[in-house]
Amino acid sequence: MIFDRVKSLDAILATAEKKGLHRSLGAFQLTMLGIGAVIGTGIFVLTSEAAQKAGPGMLLSFIVAGFVCGVAALCYSELASMVPVSGSAYTYTYAVTGELLAWMVGWALILEYAVGASAVAVGWSNHAVGLLRGLGWNFPAVLSNGDALMAKVSLAFGAEATPDLITATQVGGYFNLPAVIISILVTGLLILGTTESARVNAVLVAIKIAALTAFIALTIPVLKSENFTPFLPTGGTGVLGAAASIFFAYVGFDAVSTAAEETKNPQRNVPIGLIASLGVCTLFYLLVASGAIGAIGAQPVMDASGAVLAPGSAEMAGRCAAITASGILEPLVCSKEALVHVLDSIGWPVMGRLVGLAAVLALPSVVLMMMFGQTRVFFVMARDGLLPAKLASVHRKFKTPHVVTAVTGVVVTIAAAVLPVGRLADYSNSGTLFAFLMVAIAVLVLRRKDPTRKRPFRVPAVGIIAPLAIIGCVGLYVSLPLLAILVLPVWGGIGLIVYFMYSRKRSHVGLGLDDVHEDDSDIPPMPGAAPPVY
Ligand code: ALA
Repeated sequence: MIFDRVKSLDAILATAEKKGLHRSLGAFQLTMLGIGAVIGTGIFVLTSEAAQKAGPGMLLSFIVAGFVCGVAALCYSELASMVPVSGSAYTYTYAVTGELLAWMVGWALILEYAVGASAVAVGWSNHAVGLLRGLGWNFPAVLSNGDALMAKVSLAFGAEATPDLITATQVGGYFNLPAVIISILVTGLLILGTTESARVNAVLVAIKIAALTAFIALTIPVLKSENFTPFLPTGGTGVLGAAASIFFAYVGFDAVSTAAEETKNPQRNVPIGLIASLGVCTLFYLLVASGAIGAIGAQPVMDASGAVLAPGSAEMAGRCAAITASGILEPLVCSKEALVHVLDSIGWPVMGRLVGLAAVLALPSVVLMMMFGQTRVFFVMARDGLLPAKLASVHRKFKTPHVVTAVTGVVVTIAAAVLPVGRLADYSNSGTLFAFLMVAIAVLVLRRKDPTRKRPFRVPAVGIIAPLAIIGCVGLYVSLPLLAILVLPVWGGIGLIVYFMYSRKRSHVGLGLDDVHEDDSDIPPMPGAAPPVY
């Protein structure tokens, strides 16, 4: 039987008890932690990609993606309150559906966290380059994105040499240097054990909220109703496609459950933190998206034949370059820094630059949290024997899992160097949606298998909410672009080979070593969660 290796919930809980991380976080700090991890590249950059897919209908996309995350967050809350330990979806599925599916979830979380971190790094790069441009220094295009490289790869693989693709090879770049720099810096900080204090996180959250509030305050008054028509230029399919991509803007709230071990009264505070952070972000996103659409319009651009171009494609990059060169005001959908561009276009260039500065200051902490999430999941998987023990080794001086952090850093840096932000976000989403799906399934299975276990937080109307989460995750997954849909089974297939060739024989549960670990008691806590140093 391959589903027989289930980790005992009691052993997991005993591990958490033994570790005895300091419980310092309350509901408010958890909410701040969630907002800190959620607001990032999604809203600052991908708003333009969502507009390219759905036009003004992206407002509905934000609602759909927020709703799916909301029902998934309720499911996370039930498990996180029952099993308040590190490792998030991986740990929950290990206890509920067994090792094989847990392995698959852990493997998919690499897409969520590592590839997600790359996406945020590229979003940061867009704003850093824009800020430098504002200061009068044009950072070389050749070193600020991978568009030309991607266009040449497409041509080499037989894509038709359209004028847009040719333009991309001429004006695009080969390597995203700023994204590489920020990825390496964040990796270094994590290895040194820099953990962001709750106070630093609070300051960064305040900066992001201030930037979004200023954006809303400046755009809503100049909103023009005609910018909302046609509302659905690409129909319902476009809305779902944009929802699947903009889903990235909500990812990160699960960081709250990762901090469960450092939370006071996790049974009450984790669900509050998850749901409150998601609620606040949804409200801001809807207002920001309405402001952006209303201020300058959000209609998609088409190719010469009138077909809507795929955002993030080399063709789209070429088309946008041609539009900008012709002297027409750059449309929202072409902008690499959506919010900055809107403010610029409505006559607030200085405010635009300040919003850009807010992104430059705050996005590195989102990269930090995502990379941290990745190292924690790798760490727990290695501790369970599913990955080489060497990966879980803790540096003697810095007390950080340095090997796993360096490995993560290399992956994040390479992906950020060459791939466009939207594509990275879509790949990340395919892994995240799988993890969310498994969490919803785990809630249902556990209600049946272990109905009497104490559930400090229970999903209300679980028979409706959990199936809605399942349907929502599947629906968004199938609405992703084809390449992103394929990423999950291909990546999962590689995962299965690794599992059966390596991990299965070495699994501690398989070897009967399902016992209590204490060896990560001294690694640094969740970024943004560490108590302030006085
Ligand atoms: N939700 C995070 C962002 O938008 C990952 O950057």
